[in-house]
Amino acid sequence: MLLVKTVEELKDVAFRIKSTNRSIGLVPTMGALHNGHLSLLKRAKQENEVVICSIFVNPVQFNNPDDLAKYPRDIEGDIKLIEPYVDVVFAPTADEVFPEPPKEHYDFGMLERVMEGAFRPGHFNGVGIIVKRLLDWTNPDKAYFGEKDFQQLVIIKSMVKQFGLKTQIVPCPIVREESGLALSSRNQRLSPEDRKKAADIHRILEESLKLKEEPISIIKEFVVNEINKIDGFKLDYYEIVDDQTLQNVEFYDLSEGIIGCIAVYVGEVRLIDNIRYK
Ligand code: PAF
Repeated sequence: MLLVKTVEELKDVAFRIKSTNRSIGLVPTMGALHNGHLSLLKRAKQENEVVICSIFVNPVQFNNPDDLAKYPRDIEGDIKLIEPYVDVVFAPTADEVFPEPPKEHYDFGMLERVMEGAFRPGHFNGVGIIVKRLLDWTNPDKAYFGEKDFQQLVIIKSMVKQFGLKTQIVPCPIVREESGLALSSRNQRLSPEDRKKAADIHRILEESLKLKEEPISIIKEFVVNEINKIDGFKLDYYEIVDDQTLQNVEFYDLSEGIIGCIAVYVGEVRLIDNIRYK
């Protein structure tokens, strides 16, 4: 496994891989890696000759400085965990990635004006900036993203289309703890008691599947009410949206794919999750 810290070296390594006709799978991460990330890396390893994993807590996608400061970091633990599955790890400093403040401004239209985009202004521009740079530097055949960050996935797919990039974006299913809690680097910040409680998010979403034949407004009301009943939970949003446009769905038959997306504070930790209705 090769540890790369500079952009020049990363570009050089990627260029050399490509010039020997080997395929590259890129797995962009912010570290504090867990089994969810491992599932992306394992898939990338199966589908590509070379796997590049980036580990970079991207400051420009955090709208809240406290959230950035508290984001878990464990580069040595990360490298130990992923070593069997990666060929190249790119772990730069913030100055290396942003020698000057980034000026790019991406427009993702209506996709970025809802849910995470509405609650975290500038977040998706920050994600767009780092993901576009990583794609440009490594020119991967495939790049892997988890479906837990569903809106991010849709936005990255749209960015790849907007710029006519050749990279195939590969969505990977959510990995859950036995309790149902979706794996997230942020789970490390939950107290043992909150971690138990946080499993209720998935339990409530699963229960809402029983209402699939009811009007969308009833399903939404059920989830919002159940979440609000739990002490220590603070709901940011629960939206039931079309899986392509991310806009609210009112009638079941008008969309081919329907997904419910939630963001909820469990104590001080903000978690997101989702569930597919159709
Ligand atoms: O999903 C994440 O971990 C981040 O948003 C990503 C895609 C690595 C960009 O920093």
